[in-house]
Amino acid sequence: MGGLLEDFAYEAGLYLYDRRIWVKDAAWENSRWTTLSYRAVDEFEYLYFFWKPGATVVDKSRLSPQEWTEWGTRAVWNFPSVRANDDHEAKFPIELPRRVIRLLTAPGDVVLDPFMGSGTTALAAIELDRPYIGLEFQPHYTEMANAACERAKERRAFLKDTTGEHHDSNGHNPVAREQLTLLATRG
Ligand SMILES: C[S@@+](CC[C@H](N)C(=O)[O-])C[C@H]1O[C@@H](n2cnc3c(N)ncnc32)[C@H](O)[C@@H]1O
Repeated sequence: MGGLLEDFAYEAGLYLYDRRIWVKDAAWENSRWTTLSYRAVDEFEYLYFFWKPGATVVDKSRLSPQEWTEWGTRAVWNFPSVRANDDHEAKFPIELPRRVIRLLTAPGDVVLDPFMGSGTTALAAIELDRPYIGLEFQPHYTEMANAACERAKERRAFLKDTTGEHHDSNGHNPVAREQLTLLATRG
């Protein structure tokens, strides 16, 4: 699978920059699946970071020194899977897109998730004041993601109003650009 991804990316002009592993809950902790063979149970995911030719800005202010030590420079990330995935069977925890967005994007960069599902990546983008685009071909997931995004935007606006927050979670000035939402459905 990783080899295929690398080939597709290479054809698109992107080069493998980094690989990390997210150690999640073992499969039996949130599903009935278990192994009946010599294969190990599913308890981690690969993350592939691809590089688009051009200048690479290494901005150490994106994370605190403690965050750099704890996960920014670490190849293996440990945090739990979602506690309940009854609304979407393949939902990932918001900590996953949250870390990737904070590590690899600057405020104002557009976050694209071509497999939006319940909208977790968009929720992290809203929390971090990044514009986002999400694609999802199942209409009921599109509706679910849109509704979750609306609630998250209301929460974000409320927090900014009540706490007078003028900086995003990275300590940068807020993004003036409107958040872009494009959730595509088929048919
Ligand atoms: C692994 S799930 C993503 C779950 C998401 N990360 C979350 O936390 O809810 C993949 C999603 O991609 C959608 N999908 C699969 N193929 C697609 C395609 N070709 N275009 C758009 N959406 C697609 C599926 O319907 C599914 O909801």
